[in-house]
Amino acid sequence: MVPPVFGLCLRLVLLAVLALLLASLSDYALAATPIPQAVHDALDAMGPQASHIASLWNVFLAACAAVFLAILAVLLYVLWRTPRADGGDVPDLSSLREAEPGPQRHVTRAVVVSVLALFALVVASVFTDRALARLSLADAVNIEVTAHQWWWTAKYVNGGPSDSFTTANEIHVPVGRPVVVNLHADDVIHSLWVPSLAGKKDLIPGRSTVMQFRADHPGIYRGQCAEFCGYQHALMGLLVIAEPPAQFETWVQGQRQSATEPTDAKALRGKAVFESSSCAMCHAIQGSLASAQHAPDLTHVASRQTLAAGTLPNTPQDLSAWISNPQLHKPGTNMPATPLSKDDLEAIVAYLGGLK
Ligand code: CUA
Repeated sequence: MVPPVFGLCLRLVLLAVLALLLASLSDYALAATPIPQAVHDALDAMGPQASHIASLWNVFLAACAAVFLAILAVLLYVLWRTPRADGGDVPDLSSLREAEPGPQRHVTRAVVVSVLALFALVVASVFTDRALARLSLADAVNIEVTAHQWWWTAKYVNGGPSDSFTTANEIHVPVGRPVVVNLHADDVIHSLWVPSLAGKKDLIPGRSTVMQFRADHPGIYRGQCAEFCGYQHALMGLLVIAEPPAQFETWVQGQRQSATEPTDAKALRGKAVFESSSCAMCHAIQGSLASAQHAPDLTHVASRQTLAAGTLPNTPQDLSAWISNPQLHKPGTNMPATPLSKDDLEAIVAYLGGLK
């Protein structure tokens, strides 16, 4: 017969192997994003909001680990103490008829300790919530983010209407300044999660929610839709680029401009093809005839790091591959394959590649 302690050890080893396997799978998934240096780690806090949440996580981890270890220790002690029996022994049921004040006292104590521990965790959660609400919002950058299946619109709304501009799938924020993001959903429920900067917030059709955060260190932070929203939910990434205030202002000034007018013949032809093909029925490029709002704004598409919400790196080869057959890279996406001659495709890639 296998001793119970052996069975328990075996299960613990299997559990550890499973945990390692899951951890390596999540590393694999992140390694597949086109911007490998983008930080995506709730325990690598880069601002006050994320650090409050990381602290709460550490409190929960410590409390749960202590309880888990205590239960394991008691279990091992009981297995050690319990009388051994083999198949021929008659069970001794006499204890069932007797009162057991000792074990009853232990159970009562354990229930009291559990309730107190759970209450302490509730208190820690409330304090974290209050700390999150204390973020100063003076001089905040205001962004309207709308989630779609499966990409993000970001509209910067500081200043007057003529100062606002729209971009997609990538937002820039100044280091050290608070950011207030108003969240909307266009179709189904999504959830925005940039683990290094803030907690999750759901985006619900017909309702508006708010996320507030501050990035204290320059860097590229990866966000992800965290609510299953359809076939390509996993390919619904958002990059947050935190940069020094002067650099951010330069970026804002650039984004407010209309698209650069192409100068070489190939890109000029690309612009004409773009405006006369089905591209212009969904996309907008400020300063061109394309002004539809059903797909990402491409006015400054070349300044972005990825294509299709973090699906592909933004290189001419990938752009060409994406336009030729979006369904190959993101099956189910609303963008159809556009039948274009080789020359027209190269011209469009040249035109879009110049839209810094
Ligand atoms: Cu959007 Cu999941």
